[in-house]
Amino acid sequence: MEIDRRAFARALIAPLVVLPATTPAAAVALRDLVPGGWLIGVAINQNQSDGRDAIAVDLVTTHFNAISPENLLKFQSVQPQPGAFTFDAQDRYVAFGRDRGMAVIGHTLVWHSQTPAWVWAGRDGGLADRATMLERMRTHITTLVGRYKGQIRGWDVVNEALNDDGTLRDSPWRRGIGDDYIAQAFAFARQADPGAELYYNDYNLATRPEKRAGAIRIIRDLQQRGLRIDAVGEQGHWRLESPTTLEIDQAISDLRATGLKVMVTELDVNLLPQAGPPTRGQPPPGSNPYENGLPDDVQQALAKRYADAFRVFLKHRDDITRVTFWGVSDGDSWLNRGRANHPLLWDRQRQPKPAFDEVAKVLMAK
Ligand code: G3I
Repeated sequence: MEIDRRAFARALIAPLVVLPATTPAAAVALRDLVPGGWLIGVAINQNQSDGRDAIAVDLVTTHFNAISPENLLKFQSVQPQPGAFTFDAQDRYVAFGRDRGMAVIGHTLVWHSQTPAWVWAGRDGGLADRATMLERMRTHITTLVGRYKGQIRGWDVVNEALNDDGTLRDSPWRRGIGDDYIAQAFAFARQADPGAELYYNDYNLATRPEKRAGAIRIIRDLQQRGLRIDAVGEQGHWRLESPTTLEIDQAISDLRATGLKVMVTELDVNLLPQAGPPTRGQPPPGSNPYENGLPDDVQQALAKRYADAFRVFLKHRDDITRVTFWGVSDGDSWLNRGRANHPLLWDRQRQPKPAFDEVAKVLMAK
């Protein structure tokens, strides 16, 4: 067969010459661009950890070195009924990450949401007493953390324990056990896997200085009790304008001043207006502006937003240990909820967006 030698030579050099300059998206993997020692993570759903969503699996495998379970390790997924632990899909999630050499994150042990009512229920229909609730907490943590001992890198031990004003949220955990429920959870987790990293995780720590102060009080209390806590997670459910880069910068500095490492654990950028509940199954009028796609100016604003955020993260490269996106692509995001949101780096067709290119560029220039 006759070979067109010039075409052959062009084909050989084309990817080398053209791709890195014009389409970093096609040529780079985020995990290769982040500072040494950093984890760059993504939350995955069960379709992904079970391998059914092949395109997403490919993106996760290529670009990330850490995974978080979007829902699988929450209380209601693991122990929906007293003592009835389910571990099949959970085992596959852990194997997914370990097979790929990734850091596998556990989310979350103690939270007021996605926790079945029986956990807090007393015999008389009221709240369980302290001893009963503590025992349920201990059993849950010991069984779950113990099962993945040495396999899960770190746990969000307590999630969202604070109100926006920095006071402790009046969750059933707190009402049943008392303010020390947080310390108890950290102590149980430590006993179950002394090698696992333990985290406190919350949102609005950048936008609300008073809430951040509350998180710092929780951290100091754990430290004074001599309990293990390794890092604090600001979830990073952000919008285009809020928090400002200055606020992000300040939050990282303040949290780091506790001596803990800082993580951005659930990063996404909500582009939709606040909206009331759907009427007759439809989003309220005007609340779904990007149903048919993202206009170019918003697409560029999102790209700039991510680039600015990553510049701040890089400024704090020695303070931050992990940045995790809350979902693979726009279609996967919890932020859709009946509308079309566009909060992540890959679009609904699983194509990289300008935001991906900008993040890659910022990381490449570091
Ligand atoms: O699995 C059921 C399915 O069987 C049912 O048909 C369907 C009908 O609504 O619901 C499905 O469960 C949903 C579940 O996600 C799995 O998709 C729940 O309704 C829904 O409420 C749940 O939302 C999750 C949310 O946490 C619950 O609070 C989101 O996926 C998840 O992304 C989100 O993650 C949280 C973090 O854990 C903590 N920080 C905030 C973050 C965003 O809310």
